Amino acid sequence: MPDNDTHHQKSGKASFDDIYDMEDPRAYFTELGAFDYKAPEHGSRLFSCLIEAKGKARDADDPFNIVDVCCSYGINAALLKYDITLDDLYDRYRSEEAARVSSNELAVSDKAFYAARKKDDHPRVVGVDFAENAVAYGARAGLLDAGFAENLEDEPASDALERAIRRTDLLTVTGGIGYISEKTFDHLLGSMEGAPWVASLALRWVSYDDIAETLSKHGLATEKLDTHTFIQRRFADTEEHEYVIGELEKMGVDTEGKESEGSYHANFYLSRPVEDAARTPIEELLAPVLETSR
Ligand SMILES: C[S@@+](CC[C@H](N)C(=O)[O-])C[C@H]1O[C@@H](n2cnc3c(N)ncnc32)[C@H](O)[C@@H]1O
Repeated sequence: MPDNDTHHQKSGKASFDDIYDMEDPRAYFTELGAFDYKAPEHGSRLFSCLIEAKGKARDADDPFNIVDVCCSYGINAALLKYDITLDDLYDRYRSEEAARVSSNELAVSDKAFYAARKKDDHPRVVGVDFAENAVAYGARAGLLDAGFAENLEDEPASDALERAIRRTDLLTVTGGIGYISEKTFDHLLGSMEGAPWVASLALRWVSYDDIAETLSKHGLATEKLDTHTFIQRRFADTEEHEYVIGELEKMGVDTEGKESEGSYHANFYLSRPVEDAARTPIEELLAPVLETSR
């Protein structure tokens, strides 16, 4: 781990920028694993519920199309498409065996590893992230069905990305809200036909208001799951912990029993067409996974 001086952004939140765009995901899992990063684990369980609910109305031959934004090396795709857990990925990428091979050899071995664990009826996942190497790895290892290294904070989707995401059922984000704003959502939704659902885990100190407002302009009503929060990772150190507690207190958020215990907590947001939201309340939709979460 870099020391605190290099590891902290001015905001007080630890920065992991150096591991977001490597040739392969080993450093990502090693560094974030040290703080028990688990957003993709919660994400995949929540998103699977949505796939099940939204997928019911579909033709069996029609793939369920996901766009995962801030997809990094394709971690959400790995958990949604293959029969593996986040712990399996931590074990794999932090193993002595993995440490001995080149990035290229790891990608070749990954391709076989994932191909042998494909779930029946798995979704099709298009990944978007501005980290070129990470997206390229995700596509090469067979995690992403297509990957686009684009920064939609700065400009609209390329023609190729627009074509790839036109028919999207579900847009997902874990660990990315705050890095991306309403601008990215506006560009993505502007390229999609029909009414995708949008599902995000966002740290509690990051406001989702501007994103929800933008999504409403695209016909989607946003609900926050009020009954549960989801542990994202342990604070990197006391400095980060104190800073975040201070920010949450300024926002009037009670941190007792949550961030006070030493980890970031995330809220879950779901945006759907109003008629979908009226038909099935968010708690009912997610009931199968909520019993085992907190
Ligand atoms: C904490 S990681 C989350 C990765 C993955 N979703 C997960 O949960 O493991 C944040 C990701 O956001 C990406 N990111 C940051 N700013 C971005 C931007 N403007 N556009 C697209 N991706 C961005 C980073 O490259 C990084 O892959």
